[in-house]
Amino acid sequence: MAPVVIKNGRIITAVDDYTADILMEEERVQTIGRDIPVGADVEVHDAAGLLVLPGVVDVHTHLDWEFGTARSADTFGTGTQAAAFGGTTTLVDFADQKRGQSPLAGLEDWHQRAQSASVDVGAHMILTDVTDQTLEDMKTLIAREGVSSFKLFMAYPGVLMVDDASLFKAMRTAGSNGAMVCVHAENGPVIQALIEEALSQGRTGPKYHMLTRPSLMEGEATHRAIRISELAQTPLYIVHLSAQEALESVAEARDREIPVYAETCPHYLFLTDEEYDRPGFEGAKYVMTPPLRTQAHQQELWRGLRTDNLQVISTDHCPFCFQEQPLGMKYSKRLGYEDFSKIPNGAPGVETRLPLVFDGGVHQRGLSINRFVELTSTSPAKLFGLFPKKGTIAVGSDADIVLFDPEETWTITASEQHSRVDYTLFEGRSVTGRVKKVFLRGQLIVDGPEWRGREGMGHFVSRGESGKV
Ligand code: URP
Ligand code: ZN
Ligand code: ZN
Repeated sequence: MAPVVIKNGRIITAVDDYTADILMEEERVQTIGRDIPVGADVEVHDAAGLLVLPGVVDVHTHLDWEFGTARSADTFGTGTQAAAFGGTTTLVDFADQKRGQSPLAGLEDWHQRAQSASVDVGAHMILTDVTDQTLEDMKTLIAREGVSSFKLFMAYPGVLMVDDASLFKAMRTAGSNGAMVCVHAENGPVIQALIEEALSQGRTGPKYHMLTRPSLMEGEATHRAIRISELAQTPLYIVHLSAQEALESVAEARDREIPVYAETCPHYLFLTDEEYDRPGFEGAKYVMTPPLRTQAHQQELWRGLRTDNLQVISTDHCPFCFQEQPLGMKYSKRLGYEDFSKIPNGAPGVETRLPLVFDGGVHQRGLSINRFVELTSTSPAKLFGLFPKKGTIAVGSDADIVLFDPEETWTITASEQHSRVDYTLFEGRSVTGRVKKVFLRGQLIVDGPEWRGREGMGHFVSRGESGKV
């Protein structure tokens, strides 16, 4: 592959902001400097007027994933292409252990599905069955397979939920072997009681998804997870944090220097629970877990991002189509047309994170441009054992680069997106800031609206220790 030079761009990392050229060769950043000489064999891209950002890292996706009776609608091929158009060059997706099976078998299955990835991919492991053998297999996953983070669910009883003893045992093993535990923190049994009560009263519409998952129960589970992790002495990462009560627990623990980290997602930062008042079944598009919250919660999340009680913005991309066709019922929100508790939980978002956070954070709320890179690239890379290969622009790092126009205003619409899903949560929203070109390990994969990548060109990234910043 010919060497590539990006000229005259404004290079932004979590700590830098300067104008220079970047020479990329053999998949890495080779040189950063002023007026790098270019020979005839060099591919040159002029980035004058553009921001040059590290390829974005998304540490929360569910591609081609069986979830109860449903399956998420993106393959690794379509989901990673959509990610690339959103500037994401690395994602960490969730492999899962089926009950009664080894997590190693779950990883093998994930590797089969991930073969079509066109950006680089790592795997977390969801644990559903924490036996003595599972604890041994965790060590193998960490030391041999490059899987240094595990997700456990305190929600979804009968599907994914584990009890507190399992949570504790998995945390203890993770903590003493250089791994981190990610927790979906909601009180599953209480929520289940609320769901059953609502259904018995004939309350079946999508809005009841939100009404049966109160923020208090997210706060309660977050507090419990933190206390268990303290005892187990493991770093803990709270996924998709949406509620003020949960954030308060995280802040309180961090003040005591307990290694607790948390992410939130664009939908919690830009949408509120008013979306569930949409007519008919439309609210089902917004059925993700935890549900959308009120404006007051949203303001606290923005504050958490500023004060570093939240360290990461990830997408939780878990797409299900609104319509049944063409993919079929299994991939569709229609599974829950008559019963909100059967609506597959999850929403798309892998393509829209960067422009949304730039527009809503940097443009509208005065978030610094370095913090923007930190939240979307550098911190997730550091926390999940990918840094400095990923998450920054530095000599020797992978040449994953995004050229981003900070001035272009455009409108988000599903018809121009690349996921297989048939809607976006942000239809018709005008945003300022747009991904123009994306390089994966030095190779141009997105060129304006053109796809230059190839299914299968993504590499598996074996990760180092997680939970250290
Ligand atoms: O609604 C969501 N978040 N679906 C994906 C599964 C999970 O809990 O992350
Ligand atoms: Zn979750
Ligand atoms: Zn998720």
